[in-house]
Amino acid sequence: MKRLIVTMLTLTMLFALTACNSNKGPEVSQELTESSKTENISSEPQAAEAKALVVYFSVPETTNPNNMTGEEANSTVIINGEVLGNTQYVANVIQRNTGGDIFRIEPETPYPTDHRTLVELAKDEQNRNFRPVIKGHIDNLDKYDTIFVGYPNWWGDMPMILYSFFDEYDFSGKTIIPFNTHGGSGFSHTINVITELEPNATVNKNGFTVSRNTVQDSETKIISWLKDLGYKK
Ligand SMILES: Cc1cc2nc3c(=O)[nH]c(=O)nc-3n(C[C@H](O)[C@H](O)[C@H](O)COP(=O)(O)O)c2cc1C
Repeated sequence: MKRLIVTMLTLTMLFALTACNSNKGPEVSQELTESSKTENISSEPQAAEAKALVVYFSVPETTNPNNMTGEEANSTVIINGEVLGNTQYVANVIQRNTGGDIFRIEPETPYPTDHRTLVELAKDEQNRNFRPVIKGHIDNLDKYDTIFVGYPNWWGDMPMILYSFFDEYDFSGKTIIPFNTHGGSGFSHTINVITELEPNATVNKNGFTVSRNTVQDSETKIISWLKDLGYKK
């Protein structure tokens, strides 16, 4: 009798243990499934696949490489006969050397290329705190964790279309690296302004700034700046 009771108890324990294990099985695989699902839909790019995005605004004051006025030459760099804006040139060098994507901020209403008219319009936009409408949008900002943002210095500030840009996009959790071209004023206070406009982004204070007088010779400096930041591919 005693032996029978012991045998039954053993069988009951064995059954209970098996039942426990078979319950555990599905729970574990459920956990795995859930976590791999999260990984798949995560909007955070993995380090290996995260790309930089180079965004810039630039107004070359002519598209004709011949017989330029002083003002036109000041706002342009000629590469193989092609006319680029100063900031556009820097943006292209950054893009080539980081392997990132590029997005040009363009206004719905194009800016005049006549220097005087452009200067007056820019001042007027600033006085009115105007927000020019941007043509086109960045596709899938989630793909990028670092955004290089480039602009010319206009009246000691960013062109107002950069304010439209920072109004439109939320760069929380991303790194913004500013770059600019200028006629003597450098960045002015613009890096602080970007920091205020994007309080949840990390704004790199070590931006690249270059005078319009030396921009055409700045490739080596841009590359060494990218190396120092760890973005040279
Ligand atoms: C409307 C306007 C305002 C400018 N204001 C300034 C300024 O306040 N300080 C400065 O250093 N350069 C100023 N510049 C010069 C530009 O910053 C410089 O030419 C720049 O490299 C132009 O870049 P982009 O060819 O990419 O447009 C101004 C140029 C324009 C057209």
